[in-house]
Amino acid sequence: MSFRYPTIAPSQITPRDVFLDRRRFVQSAAGLGAAAAMGLPAPAFAAAPALDKLDAPRNAKFSVNAEPTTKKIVTGYNNYYEFGTGKYDPAASADQMKTRPWTIEIGGEVEKPMTIGIEDILKMSLQERVYRFRCVEAWSMVVPWVGLEFNELAKRVGPTSKAKYVKFTTVMQPETMPGLRIPVLDWPYVEGLRIDEAMHPLTLLTVGAYGETLTNQNGAPVRIVTPWKYGYKSVKSIVKIEFVEQQPGTAWNKAAANEYGFYSNVNPDVDHPRWSQKRERLLPALFASRQTELFNGYADQVASLYAGMDLKIDH
Ligand code: MTE
Repeated sequence: MSFRYPTIAPSQITPRDVFLDRRRFVQSAAGLGAAAAMGLPAPAFAAAPALDKLDAPRNAKFSVNAEPTTKKIVTGYNNYYEFGTGKYDPAASADQMKTRPWTIEIGGEVEKPMTIGIEDILKMSLQERVYRFRCVEAWSMVVPWVGLEFNELAKRVGPTSKAKYVKFTTVMQPETMPGLRIPVLDWPYVEGLRIDEAMHPLTLLTVGAYGETLTNQNGAPVRIVTPWKYGYKSVKSIVKIEFVEQQPGTAWNKAAANEYGFYSNVNPDVDHPRWSQKRERLLPALFASRQTELFNGYADQVASLYAGMDLKIDH
């Protein structure tokens, strides 16, 4: 039962996306105005949970020198299949998701397994990093994420020498996640990284964006961001982290192994079987006019992780 990303290259459907986005914006603005004029309460979609401000200085060393994509796009155009397969589904329906209380269970091949609450993660020293973010569907964004290096959390549990991979699991909330009823993926959403990728300073345990806690649609309260890989590696709303010996099965690889590999490093020279990865549409651009960069522009920092590996083969 493998759902596939659209058969039309995403860059080709841009005008419709943009049209829909504008239409929705106009409709919601008009709806709000009308409701207010009639003394009615604002419609449900206006009641997104309030976000908390996060005090996080920008880390210039790990930030790109590019204008961030608008918050409206980053929080309104998402992939979060637990809330539906449409790009606007998460923003429309993720507000019911429960993000408190929230704990992450960390175990497997570690010295000190532990369960950590989100409050304790938020107390760790947070920083802002402006990263490029590239979806496998050939659109990209620039996002000022807030978080900490995943390796800082990993050090607290002490991975043993048997820990060769890290497996991340997303929460399952059938009562708030309508997408779980549809078997497009083998739920829960699971992603994985090789241990050296997970411990790399670029791998960000992310709790916020734009100086605030994450919106539910962006993966509240805590997600991973690996900017040199296609976006589907950046697993959202994590409740379990396991250090394991064997390469874990991952959501998209299980759904369509010939289309989505384990490593999933951004590579302009390896086309997706159904579309080119040479160029990308930097939102809100209408066309895929930006050249895709090897490792999404992070080659200086990560290429050595793959020395000796054939980058054309995704294992
Ligand atoms: N994590 C979960 N649990 N479920 C998902 O459907 N989608 C992935 C990734 N993480 C996904 C997920 C994909 S395909 C992308 S491109 C990014 O989240 C999108 O992140 P964003 O919505 O914050 O831009």
